[in-house]
Amino acid sequence: MKVSPSILTCNYAHLEQEMGFVKDSGADMVHLDVMDGVFVPNLSFGPPVIAALRPVSDLPFDVHLMMQYPLRLVDAFADAGADIINFHMECSSPIQETLDVIKAKGKKAALTLKPATPAEAVFPYLDQLSMVLVMTVEPGFGGQKFMEDMLPKISGLRREIDRRDLRVDIEVDGGIGAATAPLVAKAGANVAVVGSALFNANDPQSLVNELHTL
Ligand code: DX5
Ligand code: ZN
Repeated sequence: MKVSPSILTCNYAHLEQEMGFVKDSGADMVHLDVMDGVFVPNLSFGPPVIAALRPVSDLPFDVHLMMQYPLRLVDAFADAGADIINFHMECSSPIQETLDVIKAKGKKAALTLKPATPAEAVFPYLDQLSMVLVMTVEPGFGGQKFMEDMLPKISGLRREIDRRDLRVDIEVDGGIGAATAPLVAKAGANVAVVGSALFNANDPQSLVNELHTL
């Protein structure tokens, strides 16, 4: 699996050093969780913080927009330095138009599914996506327990992607660590968002190495 550490549980007083921590762990990209206080009951950061981080990291930025109206700001996130822009199928912006703006900005587009949204909801868009993000917790907070009942959704999605011979990554987000990563990998996920498990790890590099072998 590829590893995309979420900096949601990092020390925000030392963001530059935290980006160094992510790089030193051997991770493949950085997962940036944007929360608007409406789509989820929490607030995090927006385009100015991502723009400030861009020069201090050479890893791809995997931006996860937990926003009710992502279309209003996708331009700003693209200009801030996002490489992959994930937004939720349950949002209130028009999905096709939002995908079109992301692609017009030359960025990779991904759609995200909350736990209650079935895999089939994303099938009509699959051929336009570089990735599908399956939430394995309710979005909003780091450090929650992995929802094992999301495994059939991951395998259903993998079956459909393979049946249509598409090159779409399946990313999982929420409660992923050494114990849960093998389960999601077996179901067909190939990108792991890891937040608290990595930032609290005694040996972050060996955790990333371990996930790379799955
Ligand atoms: C939850 C976020 C996740 C979260 C992951 O809303 O999208 O990226 O921070 O954190 P852990 O790995 O601690 O569940
Ligand atoms: Zn996330």
